[in-house]
Amino acid sequence: MKLELRGITKTFGPLVANDHIDLVVEPGQIHALLGENGAGKSTLMNVLYGLYQPDAGEIFVDDEKVSFKGPGDAVAAGIGMVHQHFMLVPVFTVAESVALGYEPTKALGRLDLQAARKKVQELSAQFGFDIDPDALIEDLPVGAQQRVEIIKALSRDAKVLILDEPTAVLTPQETDELIAIMRQLRDAGTAIVFITHKLREVKAVADCITVIRRGKVIGQASPESTDSELAAAMVGRAVKLSVEKDAPQLGETVFQMSQVSVVNYAGHVDLDHVDLAVRSGEILAIAGVQGNGQTELCRAILGLEPLAGGKMTLDGKDLTKMKVKDRLRHQLGYIPEDRSTDGMIASFSIAENMILDLYDIPPFATGVNMHPKVVMENASKLQEEFDVRVTSLQDPISTLSGGNQQKVIVARELSRPLKLLVASQPTRGLDVGSIEFVHQRIVQQRDMGTAVILVSTELDEVVGLADRIAVMYRGKIVGVVPPDTPRNVLGLMMAGVSAEEQEADK
Ligand SMILES: Nc1ncnc2c1ncn2[C@@H]1O[C@H](COP(=O)(O)OP(=O)(O)OP(=O)(O)O)[C@@H](O)[C@H]1O
Ligand SMILES: [Mg+2]
Repeated sequence: MKLELRGITKTFGPLVANDHIDLVVEPGQIHALLGENGAGKSTLMNVLYGLYQPDAGEIFVDDEKVSFKGPGDAVAAGIGMVHQHFMLVPVFTVAESVALGYEPTKALGRLDLQAARKKVQELSAQFGFDIDPDALIEDLPVGAQQRVEIIKALSRDAKVLILDEPTAVLTPQETDELIAIMRQLRDAGTAIVFITHKLREVKAVADCITVIRRGKVIGQASPESTDSELAAAMVGRAVKLSVEKDAPQLGETVFQMSQVSVVNYAGHVDLDHVDLAVRSGEILAIAGVQGNGQTELCRAILGLEPLAGGKMTLDGKDLTKMKVKDRLRHQLGYIPEDRSTDGMIASFSIAENMILDLYDIPPFATGVNMHPKVVMENASKLQEEFDVRVTSLQDPISTLSGGNQQKVIVARELSRPLKLLVASQPTRGLDVGSIEFVHQRIVQQRDMGTAVILVSTELDEVVGLADRIAVMYRGKIVGVVPPDTPRNVLGLMMAGVSAEEQEADK
């Protein structure tokens, strides 16, 4: 099925999110949409999926003009979409989720679950998905949940599949699996619109690339372009793709954890007697395959996980029993891996989200008196500094594009004096230009004497920023190694084999 968008324009108040966009997607083609944060990619896809009504422009399916009043019309025309933030209901099974897709108006008890179960099995077998139709959504890892979204679309006969930043939340291995699935779908004739900020992925699968900047199509790029060419096309300037930093000026040990253990409600040991120390002026990066305790480590430092044992100190003070709020006041900064649940309050304004936990202390308040003017001044300063694309700072943060929401959180955490910064996936969802900027800011923070703990599943990010790398496996630290450690050694450490064991095996 061929799809064509002509002159699509979509405004939000004074903001032109899509400005006369033309796009042609051919059958059996993977068409990548590349563009900086807030360029208008998700908006365009929401128009195509019938979620937004365009102010102007036309959509053609197989050269016939169509108009979508809602996603139901788009689905009926053969369009499927996997959103930037998934829309699955956690307490449903896979089969129920897929069945809901066919008959959204029927009560769940009357859905044809048997047919849905069969469909899930068929599609799983066809594409090698390995999904149990009776599994509960909430029990599935993110990568599998995404496959359920894809199955949902395919079960409704999608001929055009929209994938909006599908890899942002995936591990590198899950990403490779998704890429393989995309190739299979393409070879079977499906057209795919693929949005990502990762140039490696674009080059791996895209048949053609359209670049969007500030709501307009800038042009086409060839998948054979170099990373720097693609990066420059996206953000309109040259971007440094590697991190520049001087040797660290190490100070005192600022943060220390000894023998820290965390056990979850089901009795699973998430952190197993972890010892770590970070010095002022140092970036300690935590590498590892997602799900090996990194999340719990960060949450434990912040005070969001009760400790089953062990002790933590920040600047000599015992954190172990300290409340979250008091830890933040003791100059602990936190960029959470999941911005929507731990980093922001969706219905609060952008300006309010730029202070969040500081709302009742100077300079934003004295005693019970809030100072809205100071809150606004702070917000406009940060907005400019971090290039957050907003219409009004009073709008709810939920109206921002994904990457711009992330920038608000990073700006907030990097704009106050910090002794320790815990940054978990700090550049998730950011465009290459913003990644460059946030990396510089993290290094700058280090150079001002902050101790930094960086958690990232991107090995390039870990190696680029780290002064030391601690590798985690199954809740334990396998070892702490220098950043110039060969990648294959790091890779084996991530599978639980320490550097010493690797040496002994030689
Ligand atoms: N519902 C809305 N109300 C107001 N403004 C909106 C709304 N949805 C999007 N916008 C604005 O439209 C612009 C384009 O946003 P969009 O989400 O399409 O960007 P994007 O290219 O997907 O960016 P990202 O890479 O960060 O996901 C942004 O400036 C955003 O703030
Ligand atoms: Mg988007």
